Amino acid sequence: MAKSDSWGSRVGLILAMAGNAVGLGNFLRFPVQAVQNGGGTFIIPYLVSFLLMGIPLLWVEWAMGRYGGRYGDHSTPFILDNMTKKKLWKYFGVFGIFTNLGVMSYYTYIESWTLSYTLKSAIGGFSGMTIEEVGTFFDNYVGSGGDFNMPTWGFLAFVITLVLNIYILSKGLSGGIEKVAKVAMPLLIVFGVFLAVKAIFLGQGGDCVDCDSAVGMSFLWEPDFNNLWDPKIWLAAAGQIFFTLSVGMGTIHCYASYVKKRDDIALNAMSAGWMNGFVEIVLGASVVIPIAVGYLGLDWVKDNAGFMMAFKTMPFLFDKWGPILSVLAGVSWFGLLFFAGVTSSLAMGTPWMGFMKDEFKWSANKSALTLGILIFILALPTIFLFDKGVFDEYDYWTGTVSLVVFALAEVILFAWVFGMDKGWKEINTGADIKVPKAYKFIIKYVTPAFIIWILFSSLFKQGDGDGFNLAPDSIIGQIFHVGKDFVWMKDGAFTDMFYIDMSRVLLLALFGGLCVMVRKAQIRRNKEGRKYDN
Ligand code: TRP
Repeated sequence: MAKSDSWGSRVGLILAMAGNAVGLGNFLRFPVQAVQNGGGTFIIPYLVSFLLMGIPLLWVEWAMGRYGGRYGDHSTPFILDNMTKKKLWKYFGVFGIFTNLGVMSYYTYIESWTLSYTLKSAIGGFSGMTIEEVGTFFDNYVGSGGDFNMPTWGFLAFVITLVLNIYILSKGLSGGIEKVAKVAMPLLIVFGVFLAVKAIFLGQGGDCVDCDSAVGMSFLWEPDFNNLWDPKIWLAAAGQIFFTLSVGMGTIHCYASYVKKRDDIALNAMSAGWMNGFVEIVLGASVVIPIAVGYLGLDWVKDNAGFMMAFKTMPFLFDKWGPILSVLAGVSWFGLLFFAGVTSSLAMGTPWMGFMKDEFKWSANKSALTLGILIFILALPTIFLFDKGVFDEYDYWTGTVSLVVFALAEVILFAWVFGMDKGWKEINTGADIKVPKAYKFIIKYVTPAFIIWILFSSLFKQGDGDGFNLAPDSIIGQIFHVGKDFVWMKDGAFTDMFYIDMSRVLLLALFGGLCVMVRKAQIRRNKEGRKYDN
């Protein structure tokens, strides 16, 4: 068996965990969510979700991970299995591998854009382009718009990015991930602070009345109590908390399972969590939106908010800063995104590796290589069917819905099956801070209730119109394509719906395949008569 890996130092662990959390979500997803959900209104549900759901889940996941690691388990299915006598729980744990593989497939693709854009910015490749030209460059980069996308450069960059990830993963935790995090995280902060300072001092950039970066800032920051009770805003805020902290995914279980059994988790979890919060609400909110508002005005930003803005608009705006500063800004911006991305995608790779090493005694190299092949295959539809909505489909199921389902399962397991008294002791073992006693109550009642509310309001969201009808963007509405005609073939060609349904089949097959592997692993364990098995 491959020798069990471990973290080299506490700083390394915290930076790796912060690197896991700090990702494209902080810089691309957060600002867009904030703009689409009322700006200053968003920040209130966001902070409430952070305190009542994010922080409790961080403690729960760190505690579960370290607990599993004590028994030699480094993957979510068997970490869960250890905490209960019931055999079925470990199949919930399949989410902890599934989510990571699903998200990693499209995430690595976006990450590869940031790599290409860093290089292009470095050689001044965007200078002199109009905003339309920058936009067209992006459209051509991701595809040619034909029946099948053929992103030549985009595909090459994706392969390079994936190979890089796999190479680092094969070097292990202290020899690979930790080293990368120690360089990437500080640099990311330096780049982010540079851009945020530029944004603040930009002031009036364009000609319109509200073309002022300060207008963008106050739109995001001034608490606004209008619409505060709109459930849509609460759902968006809670979803953002899940995604940005990487909770409900299994990644933290895996990382924490390599923490030594008496080492602190309470303070470590807080350090990584607050660092993520700082990067998100201070740096993440201070770059794209204020700069874009500064030049193009608040209305333009509200109409055009989308994560493509980072690629389609920013290079054009940086170009206004003169030849040298525009190169610096471009490299800082896309370099920052790349570093944020890579430290997250590495984290997504670890659950699969931990599982294969633990259960099938595979080496680090073999586990990393198979991961690479798997991600490559899963990513193909998102790349070649990009404009058919497959990309969004992956994000919806693996990056949104499954997090909530799994978080609910794990918090119930932790607080109610494993037991809150035992759980509380786990969180406090070796703790370097005093965890507020209120959290014992919050974890047991408030967090599960909160997640149940989120899950049910997303499942059966009410559509517009009278009486009960399902919104097309409710989970059930999505499953049954509510509000759309059900057609797979039209004029001799497959419809988007066909491709979307096929990608669902693929993801379901992935989930099923992982369940079979967990079952196989259990049979192996029974044969070997492993001691700590239930
Ligand atoms: N938190 C990361 C971000 O903000 C995303 C992320 C990290 C993630 N690890 C994950 C998403 C595991 C899904 C699964 O971008």
